Amino acid sequence: MPWPLDGPELALALYREYAHPRALVDETGALVAFGEYYFKPPATVRFARLIVAPNRRGQRIIDTLIDRLAADAARHRTSDTLELAVFADNSPAKRANLRLGFIPRQDVLSDAILTMQRHP
Ligand SMILES: CC(C)(COP(=O)(O)OP(=O)(O)OC[C@H]1O[C@@H](n2cnc3c(N)ncnc32)[C@H](O)[C@@H]1OP(=O)(O)O)[C@@H](O)C(=O)NCCC(=O)NCCS
Repeated sequence: MPWPLDGPELALALYREYAHPRALVDETGALVAFGEYYFKPPATVRFARLIVAPNRRGQRIIDTLIDRLAADAARHRTSDTLELAVFADNSPAKRANLRLGFIPRQDVLSDAILTMQRHP
């Protein structure tokens, strides 16, 4: 839980309670990846806890995970900006996110964490 919480931060923290957790499985039912999305007011879908099984990394599974999460979110609301955050030293994740069209937000200032967005 971040602290201090101002009004918008509190609203965001409460929205996170309504995250939609999703698992990606292969044809045998084995768990391949996991991720969550939640709706961040006014018009953003934010992804969280994205992770690909260690033995399946480097196979672009993140592309399928993001596609499926975005499609699922779009069933509730369309045309939202997609957003995620990544630790600045997480090079594999940053490369994958850039390849998928996510651009670092310049207005969110943090040395340790990069907020990235993909517009509709
Ligand atoms: C970040 C992550 C989700 C990427 O998923 P992915 O399906 O492996 O994505 P990609 O296949 O596009 O690979 C991304 C980079 O990981 C690197 N990679 C390849 N094999 C790897 C392996 N076995 N282990 C770690 N990284 C590997 C590749 O170099 C690739 O970079 P490249 O495109 O320049 O070659 C995944 O590495 C992961 O689950 N990491 C731990 C959780 C995490 O960091 N989540 C943050 C998400 S914002």
